[in-house]
Amino acid sequence: MNILMVGSGGREHALIKKLLESPKCTKLYCAPGNGGISRDAETVNIGAMDKENMVKFAKENAVDLVFVAPDDPLADGMVDAFDNAGIRAFGPNAGAAIIEASKVFSKNLMKKYNIPTAKYEVFDDAQKAVEYVRTQNTAPIVVKADGLALGKGVIIAQTVDEAVDAIKSIMEDKKFGASGNNIVIEEFLTGPEVSVLAFTDGKCVKPMVSSKDHKRAYDNDKGLNTGGMGTISPNPYYTEEIADICMETIFKPTVEAMNKEGRPFKGCLYFGLMITPDGPKVIEYNARFGDPEAQVVLPRLKTDLVDICEAVINERLSDIDIEWYDGAAACVVMASGGYPVEYKKGIEMFGLDDMGQVDGAIVYHAGTKYENGRFYTNGGRVLGVTATAPTLDEALDKAYAAVDKIKFDGAHFRHDIGKTK
Ligand code: AMP
Ligand code: GLY
Repeated sequence: MNILMVGSGGREHALIKKLLESPKCTKLYCAPGNGGISRDAETVNIGAMDKENMVKFAKENAVDLVFVAPDDPLADGMVDAFDNAGIRAFGPNAGAAIIEASKVFSKNLMKKYNIPTAKYEVFDDAQKAVEYVRTQNTAPIVVKADGLALGKGVIIAQTVDEAVDAIKSIMEDKKFGASGNNIVIEEFLTGPEVSVLAFTDGKCVKPMVSSKDHKRAYDNDKGLNTGGMGTISPNPYYTEEIADICMETIFKPTVEAMNKEGRPFKGCLYFGLMITPDGPKVIEYNARFGDPEAQVVLPRLKTDLVDICEAVINERLSDIDIEWYDGAAACVVMASGGYPVEYKKGIEMFGLDDMGQVDGAIVYHAGTKYENGRFYTNGGRVLGVTATAPTLDEALDKAYAAVDKIKFDGAHFRHDIGKTK
């Protein structure tokens, strides 16, 4: 099969390495890809949002299967464009991708179908939102931009004044553009966080092995929220008992709810959960693989990913068994100095071999480019240095040993992946 991956991050690199294991995959393209991906697949210079040229390329190159990995093209109807062209694409259509693209939609969905989540109010007017937080007079309180914001549209306000500032920066200064036309203000929940990605064809839902992201930029969960600084799998807080509760109260009801809304979800549905003292609750949905969750979940996948994609597209997911390797995986993200605010690009990287790898680890490339046999930084999150091992501690030791071999000016990573709640 000729397969086309849409996207350019570490998640896409992890998907590509898994697709390459499939005997069905004879040719792999990635648009636009990155430096590391260019060593594993043929990269194509088409932007991830360019539906027209993406479909044209797929037609001209007899692509059999497309995998749309990032949130923006999904929300913008990339899968719909391929459907209309008669080309099979893995991922939700725009109607279903709204579960991530609008927090107002997802919160209202959870309320309507009794899916456990934080209590909330929606506002389209900054003044009314400010009055609300002042009258509530409790903190911490959580302010969220409605739309997509690169994982940065959530502010945990520690005081009422901080909440007021957040409302103003999102709704008046438009820090996240039109994503902040509406906001959700919700109660602050506590407890360990768990990411559960699940395959669903709209009929059945098959959760993958659990994982845990580390979203803050610095050690001890200090600093700004990022796209994710590192992950582990499995998540020690996700017991079998909790998994059963999630299946019955969250996973199945969400897939059902989307069907009832006339928005059947097909693809990878990501449940961002918090295990609160009152049981597991949904913090957010994503309509795709998480990044860097994919980097620890996919290395543990035993079953052919192409088979799974086809089963989802053909709505035959219940027919296949999805198998996983025991043990654990850990991913440490190496970022550019200054990320997630300002950072330089084009810094040469050392310690990688000509395929961009190091011994003992799988290095997934995110913001990198490859020129004349050398790798350079090309984004905020640069590499996802990943290792698998029989135990989590060993996986972490291996991943950090690999990180030590890689050097670039300003490189920044967390030292406590797998150690915090
Ligand atoms: P989100 O983009 O919705 O996943 O939010 C980013 C991060 O903010 C989450 O991973 C949580 O750590 C935190 N967060 C979001 N909503 C809440 C909440 N209601 N209570 C506590 N923390 C939250
Ligand atoms: N790592 C969180 C996300 O992909 O949204």
